[in-house]
Amino acid sequence: MTARTDDMAAALDVLRGRLAEIGYTPDALRRLLHVTFPDDVGLLNHAPAVERLAHDHSALATAVRLFFLEAGVTPRAVAAVFSRRDCAALVAAGVLRSRSGRAYARARIDPIGDQYFLSDRRLRACDRGALGLPGRDPVYPPGSDSVILRDAVVAADARGVLDLCTGSGVQAVQRAGHADHVVAVDVNPRAVAVTRMNAQLNGVGNVNVHVGDLYAPVRGQAFDLITANPPFVASPYARGPAYHAGGPTGDRVLRRILAGLDKHLAPGGRAFAISHVALRSGEDVAARATAWFRRFSGRALVLVLETGTAVDLAAAQALFALDRGLAAYAAEVRRWVAYLRRHRIRTVALLLIVAERGVRRGVEVVEAQPRVLPIPLSPPPAQRIAAWLA
Ligand SMILES: C[S@@+](CC[C@H](N)C(=O)[O-])C[C@H]1O[C@@H](n2cnc3c(N)ncnc32)[C@H](O)[C@@H]1O
Repeated sequence: MTARTDDMAAALDVLRGRLAEIGYTPDALRRLLHVTFPDDVGLLNHAPAVERLAHDHSALATAVRLFFLEAGVTPRAVAAVFSRRDCAALVAAGVLRSRSGRAYARARIDPIGDQYFLSDRRLRACDRGALGLPGRDPVYPPGSDSVILRDAVVAADARGVLDLCTGSGVQAVQRAGHADHVVAVDVNPRAVAVTRMNAQLNGVGNVNVHVGDLYAPVRGQAFDLITANPPFVASPYARGPAYHAGGPTGDRVLRRILAGLDKHLAPGGRAFAISHVALRSGEDVAARATAWFRRFSGRALVLVLETGTAVDLAAAQALFALDRGLAAYAAEVRRWVAYLRRHRIRTVALLLIVAERGVRRGVEVVEAQPRVLPIPLSPPPAQRIAAWLA
């Protein structure tokens, strides 16, 4: 072990032990901040979320401020959560830093189910040096899409699982408890490094993580279960983070994932993916989905979870510009709308896609009481999927 990996191992031990001890859980976030999904707190409601905790000096509230709200806290508050030695371990590993008399988290930590996921920050600029990670392309913090996909997977315990576009490893690390081995792939080396850390943080030893383009690292291999949450936003920022843009129709990466299912799903195997699709006037989800699965030896269910117009998408996505003020937000909305108009995009839908390789054929599209973009989202569709698969 190098000194660096020693530092990291010590820090992960501290985090695992202490966060569980103080009750840093999804239930606690629901209770304290009324959030269901990790991205329920964004720039728009960040200040009220911080205020909700203003009079709470517990160790749990400090951890929520640091790791979920990405806010600065006093050194005294940190000392109530971590011993002096633990603090030193977290600073050495690039988890915490102090600036102008306040302590900050250099990465966020989302509790999901009974696991913890480190990733780059959502509400502050990415700290390139966080966790000693390589590269500059930020790692996607688990969002509502990640949680919906994770909760929707209905699969018997599998020998082999493949998680494409793994990001923080939120899908891969969760499935590891139900599989002999999991292979996780991401094109971003920083995401690969974070996924390895998250496997270690959660005490999971059967996840192999590879840098690569979709199926390239698993050529010739077939799996019982494939999960995928690809970049899917019909975004004018094609050169932004690798987790973001999915081309003007949203499905640029998804299409390649679905096209590879025949080769990489074992007979009877299942795949679960979540993605936007952006449609031009006259197009619909059914026609697009039929095209995706034209050559697939099996059946597919496509649940429509959200729908919206191009303007709805622009209004939701431009929110990141709010920290530069309302005029910047308005300019950003116009930029998105112009991009979507140029590509003749009229509507956008969020889809949860389930595919099963086998003798049953066909593509079924179901409107799962879609909500209008953006969030709040429809409730997780796990029950509907379970019924369909039965
Ligand atoms: C929306 S994030 C999803 C992360 C995670 N699976 C989740 O559910 O939160 C999409 C991820 O896909 C990765 N990615 C983008 N293009 C890829 C490609 N061609 N092959 C592999 N990974 C890719 C990005 O780096 C990013 O980590």
